[in-house]
Amino acid sequence: MRLKEEVNKVIQAAFSRAGIEETPISVSEATKPEFGDYQFNGAMALAKVLKKNPREIAGMIADSLDLSGIVSKAEIAGPGFINLWLNPERIASFCEKADKDSRLDISKREKPVKAVVDYSGPNMAKQMHVGHLRSTIIGDTLANLLEFLGDEVIRQNHIGDWGTQFGMLIAYLEEIDEDGTTSLKDLEQFYKDAKGRFDEDENFANKAREYVVKIQSGDSHCLKLWQKFIDISLGHCEEVYEKLDVNLTRDDVRAESFYNESLAKVITDLEKVGMLKESDGAQCVFLEGEDIPVIVQKGDGGYLYATTDLAALYYRANVLGAKRISYVVDARQSEHFKQVFRVAKEAGFVPEDVKLEHIAFGTMMDTNGKPFKTREGGTVKLIELLDEAVTRAKEAITAKDDYSEEELERLAKIVGIGAVKYADLAINRESNYIFNWDKMLSFDGNTSLYMQYAYARIQSILRKYGREVEGKIIISDELEHRLAVMLLRFEDVLEKAAEDAAPNQITGYLYDVVTLFMRFYERNPILKEGVDEETRVSRLLLADLTAKTIKQGLAILGIQVVDKL
Ligand code: ARG
Repeated sequence: MRLKEEVNKVIQAAFSRAGIEETPISVSEATKPEFGDYQFNGAMALAKVLKKNPREIAGMIADSLDLSGIVSKAEIAGPGFINLWLNPERIASFCEKADKDSRLDISKREKPVKAVVDYSGPNMAKQMHVGHLRSTIIGDTLANLLEFLGDEVIRQNHIGDWGTQFGMLIAYLEEIDEDGTTSLKDLEQFYKDAKGRFDEDENFANKAREYVVKIQSGDSHCLKLWQKFIDISLGHCEEVYEKLDVNLTRDDVRAESFYNESLAKVITDLEKVGMLKESDGAQCVFLEGEDIPVIVQKGDGGYLYATTDLAALYYRANVLGAKRISYVVDARQSEHFKQVFRVAKEAGFVPEDVKLEHIAFGTMMDTNGKPFKTREGGTVKLIELLDEAVTRAKEAITAKDDYSEEELERLAKIVGIGAVKYADLAINRESNYIFNWDKMLSFDGNTSLYMQYAYARIQSILRKYGREVEGKIIISDELEHRLAVMLLRFEDVLEKAAEDAAPNQITGYLYDVVTLFMRFYERNPILKEGVDEETRVSRLLLADLTAKTIKQGLAILGIQVVDKL
């Protein structure tokens, strides 16, 4: 449910009753339990407009409040804050409703948005690196979230499969192992070896250059080699997607090469609208207020990263019909996106009402605060990283219980991969992110294991109870009240997280939910002897809704739960 909207409506009604002209109204979540559940802080601003004392205004509003609905108590505090408490019976019945509903009473958007999420985007010439890991995890969450809220999401994997380096790579492939299956196991090594050949042998270098031209002009032998190279490379990425449990398939791939045919048109279209200028032999777009132009075609006729992105923007806005296009890409590319977005809008490639956003994220660092590398300074292989996560997860959970080999394997995958994803999603995405195994695999703190453990614990309580939980929720103390209100905020949290493309708002919320639940559970035993049945059922229902909220929240983050841990 949209809890905040319900509370806003109550204030809105009080405004009209008090004869105050309507202004947009928004309450905010109370910052401390003693301030109630929500606060209305608008009296101060209103006082200025109406030239009255803010406490007087707050008094007028408070006196006109209908306290027979969702809001049942109001108090004026400080210079003119209105603190609001929600009606325990109402929130109890809203919780009951949510618990019975498969979507937890979360509505689907009345007006779904067609949204493109561009994420992952590995480069086929190289090993996928940790930056692509972040993009994949954050992008997948954003896509899941929008989808859950009812938007029509189109995932786009803009892989880097085009460029001059492919001439060298396929020439080398042809030379050593046309089949590619063995030599391409380690792309990093393959690239190094090819580069070595290129640098030391003039004949090879010439052939590599010749092959660049040949691929571009559609020579079938070279294209076949190129295709082989891409297939194997993409296969490596798909192994990572599979392990990571993300929803990216081959159908989502719209590679750079996909836009080849449209690049010339980008240039002529820019020319038509008078935005193209030659500078030092290159074709450029000069944007007002920017010193450095956007180069769209080099002197030798070659196109650039920006040209491809302009073609992709055109495709996404006009062919796919997207109204929101989100690029989940490293923060170091902000300048690039700022510029191509501007060019695309000014040139009319993208209609005015389409929202273009760069969902930037910071760099992944090791515990010493250095960019994440192997000890030798190379790129960390993602597959190995994910396998290590599973191994470490095994160690973390065996300490808790005895599992069969099979069960341990299954749990460790869910726990280990979940930990890697959660740790990434739980920080403000724009900050640099410190990769720390011990922290991410801890049972305490804002970790996936903490959430999964709470979930499993609730399942165990429900199993022990052994029958269908039927009855009512009765809010009997402040902790229960707070937990119930927190659970009802889920939709508001998801909406805001979607708007800000901020997964950490979801993790922060889940952490608050679970922390409250743990306190509630400690104080309010459920199965213990002496608890009367009515109370027990009420607590069980709250626990059940807590578990369902954890499960749904984690599902959006692409993380699974387990029934036993
Ligand atoms: N391949 C690019 C890189 O590794 C990321 C692609 C992002 N998407 C885009 N449309 N430019 O940096």
